[in-house]
Amino acid sequence: MMEIVLYPDPRLRAKNAPIEEFDDELKQLAREMLDLMYETKGVGLAAPQVGVNKRLMVFNAEGDPEKPELETILCNPRIVRKAKAKVSAEEGCLSFPGIYAHVERPDGCVVVAQDVNGEEFQFELDDWASRVFQHEFDHLEGVLFIDRFSPSDKTRLKPALRGLEADYKEKIAGL
Ligand code: CO
Repeated sequence: MMEIVLYPDPRLRAKNAPIEEFDDELKQLAREMLDLMYETKGVGLAAPQVGVNKRLMVFNAEGDPEKPELETILCNPRIVRKAKAKVSAEEGCLSFPGIYAHVERPDGCVVVAQDVNGEEFQFELDDWASRVFQHEFDHLEGVLFIDRFSPSDKTRLKPALRGLEADYKEKIAGL
């Protein structure tokens, strides 16, 4: 069964391979990721977060399964333009339970990606959807939101991160 990979699992830092096969297996993986995202009250999920090191992400910026029209599945996304203006807002991450902090990001971006059939398309995102996308895009680059915390938040959240690291050690020792 699919599970959320928690920090500091090395799969969150591993290199993610491009999607090359746009088959039923890919469609099923994306569907399972969306379902798990809703179950865990998330708004976005990247494949490395379920232990699959591929360049695939899903999101629904409202996290509302009743709004399937907001479901977005992106394969091999690229950011082709970023807004110059930056904004800061609070973020969480399913791989970091209980950890929330402000992250500064460009206010919008233009993205080129492929859909589950391999069809390339371009679109623009702003506000919250742009933030959700950029957070998930970071996962595909092996970048985690803690890397973008301010020095004071890094200090404030150090004990919580140490706690997750201890849980992980215990978990792998128990396997
Ligand atoms: Co995340």
